Amino acid sequence: MPPSVTVAQSKIDCQGVYAAADFAPGVVILTIDDSYLVDDEHPVPPGEAHHCDYLEAAKSIWMQPPECFINHSCDPNVYVKTLDGFRRVVSLRQIAVGEEVVYDFCVNSSGDVVWQCNCGAPRCRQTIHSDFFHLPLELQKEYLPLLDDWFLQERSADVEVLMAALSAEHPG
Ligand SMILES: C[S@@+](CC[C@H](N)C(=O)[O-])C[C@H]1O[C@@H](n2cnc3c(N)ncnc32)[C@H](O)[C@@H]1O
Ligand SMILES: [Zn+2]
Repeated sequence: MPPSVTVAQSKIDCQGVYAAADFAPGVVILTIDDSYLVDDEHPVPPGEAHHCDYLEAAKSIWMQPPECFINHSCDPNVYVKTLDGFRRVVSLRQIAVGEEVVYDFCVNSSGDVVWQCNCGAPRCRQTIHSDFFHLPLELQKEYLPLLDDWFLQERSADVEVLMAALSAEHPG
């Protein structure tokens, strides 16, 4: 376990990840281990489906501790971005020691899964649709700079529609 975080019980769901130090905005807190590729020869172990992540070209990864315990929040304090070939967990704002580390699962996310959120944030969306482009327009705008390059490429048609909608909002 990197010294930057700990894993403990969470009010959001079962286990969560907590900051073990104070972090300034824009700091890499963790590097995600994406080496556990899920395929026919390496299926997800029983009971571990909720620890899978879905990346480019329908690639599926069995996430490892501690990052597999990061919960979703509708008011995230980190996001995930590929930097120098590795997915990093980066602070979005100041994070105090002991604060739960949470990202918005809809960033870089496709699919048609609907689930109920228990994040407890004042701006909780309650019913979450997994696809980024189902987010309210204002939130798509807020999250646009956070999107990973592979997602921007894979969903380029939707990104173009979003950019057009945003420039129609603020012509010129
Ligand atoms: C990557 S795991 C997070 C770690 C999980 N809490 C655990 O102890 O294994 C993702 C799963 O956690 C749960 N989860 C995470 N954030 C949630 C939230 N805001 N509301 C409801 N369930 C959440 C969901 O079951 C989801 O499939
Ligand atoms: Zn929520």
